[in-house]
Amino acid sequence: MKWFTLLKKENPNLEIIINGGISKISDIKKHLHFCDGVMIGRAIYQNPYFLTEIEKDIFNFKKTPLRQEIAENILQYLEKEVKKGTKVNHIMRHTVGLYHGQIGSKKWKRYLSDNMMARDSDFKKAKHIMEIVQNNEKANQNL
Ligand SMILES: Cc1cc2nc3c(=O)[nH]c(=O)nc-3n(C[C@H](O)[C@H](O)[C@H](O)COP(=O)(O)O)c2cc1C
Repeated sequence: MKWFTLLKKENPNLEIIINGGISKISDIKKHLHFCDGVMIGRAIYQNPYFLTEIEKDIFNFKKTPLRQEIAENILQYLEKEVKKGTKVNHIMRHTVGLYHGQIGSKKWKRYLSDNMMARDSDFKKAKHIMEIVQNNEKANQNL
C-alpha cells in the first residue's frame, strides 16, 4: 500500500488532495479512490479545454461548452475587465492553450502573440479573434 493511501486510511478525517503530474481522466479516477481530491496545474494550463472532460467524466455534467462558446465568453469578460483597467494580455495569456491538440492551434497562438500579448495590446484587436475561432471550428469539424 502506498504511503498516501495509508495516510488517508489511518486519518480518515484529514482532507487529502493529491497533485503533481496528473493529466489523465483515468488517473484522476484512480486517485479519487483513496484521496478526497485531485489538483491539476500544468495539464490544465497547457490544455484548458481538459476542464470540460473533467466536468463530463468526473462531475457528470450533461453539457459542456464548445471552444467557440468559451471564446465568446472570454471576449465578453475581457471587454468588461478592460473597462475596469485590466490589461488585455493579463487575461489572454491564459488562453494560449485553448486549441491544444486541435487544427488551428498554431494560428490561435500566433494571433494571440501578434496582437494580444503586448503590455499595451488593444481590445479592438480582440474582435478579430472570432474569425480565427470560426475557421478553427470548421477545420476541426471537417475531420
Ligand atoms: C499556472 C500555475 C499556477 C500555479 N500557482 C500556484 C500557486 O499560486 N500556489 C501554489 O502553491 N502552487 C501553484 N502552482 C503549483 C500547483 O499547485 C502544483 O503544485 C504543481 O503545478 C504540480 O502539479 P501539476 O503537475 O498538476 O502541475 C501553480 C501551477 C501552475 C501550473
